[in-house]
Amino acid sequence: MEEYYKGRSILITGGAQGIGLGLALAFAKAGAKVILADQDKEAGEEAVRMLQEQNLEASFIACNVADESQVKILFQQVEEQHQQLDALINNAGIANPTVASLEEMEMSVFDQVLAVNLRGPVLCAKFALTLLRKAANPCILNISSTRAFMSEPNTFPYSAAKGGLEALTHSLAISLTAPLIRVNAIAPGWIETGPWQKKSKKAEPQHSQLDKSQHPVGRVGEPSDIAEAALFLCSDKAGFITGQSLIIDGGMSVKMIYT
Ligand SMILES: NC(=O)c1ccc[n+]([C@@H]2O[C@H](COP(=O)([O-])OP(=O)(O)OC[C@H]3O[C@@H](n4cnc5c(N)ncnc54)[C@H](O)[C@@H]3O)[C@@H](O)[C@H]2O)c1
Repeated sequence: MEEYYKGRSILITGGAQGIGLGLALAFAKAGAKVILADQDKEAGEEAVRMLQEQNLEASFIACNVADESQVKILFQQVEEQHQQLDALINNAGIANPTVASLEEMEMSVFDQVLAVNLRGPVLCAKFALTLLRKAANPCILNISSTRAFMSEPNTFPYSAAKGGLEALTHSLAISLTAPLIRVNAIAPGWIETGPWQKKSKKAEPQHSQLDKSQHPVGRVGEPSDIAEAALFLCSDKAGFITGQSLIIDGGMSVKMIYT
């Protein structure tokens, strides 16, 4: 994919850290201008510095994706600064899935996760449309989760939001056909993001043998595992793929468990 994305602009929400930063690095290395939209200004500015130090094209716009007026301004700024948008990657999310028991969970917690992890992607898609419709092969990629399909206890808001994001993916794909905007999802499993946090939060991965061996591929995932698939799904090579979701979890979710 070297230079494949030259001349294309890719907006990645939550692009300042974690999987989003891994996506930004991969798309920028493939020639794209990457726009990081994130609510963490310190992380966003640090991420842009890191990318620019490698002579990659990157910019940061501060935005809370759950806030309609901020999302509207985000895409106005993208239009003013870049005049172009080829792909929107809805990656920003409250990534910690576990909450209190159903009896004890505050509904404000449920509402907040839904607002960021589901309403956010809808708002971004809505306000990105005008720019995306001008692009040659536009697409939207939603970063969902295997938790859309399976659960640990007490993960109600996160699982419900990611399940909604999966449904939103096929619903948008069927709605955005003229002109065509392809819409797909990636559902990651366990992806280690410790080394991809801002300096003050960076952490070295520490995985036990069990952490690794419970994955059929023998290891925990990395942001680059998601980025490789994203580079393909956003390219013309995936021109016949829309409304789909790709699980990337080292095989964890297809492992049958007998006790
Ligand atoms: N890491 C995993 O194991 C994993 C697994 C499955 C799915 N995911 C999904 O991948 C995406 C990225 O997760 P991650 O692990 O890299 O998380 P992360 O916490 O490392 O990074 C998330 C980024 O999103 C930003 N963000 C959070 N709320 C925001 C908001 N309201 N507006 C704008 N930016 C906001 C944060 O500032 C941060 O920079 C999330 O949607 C998450 O649900 C992660």
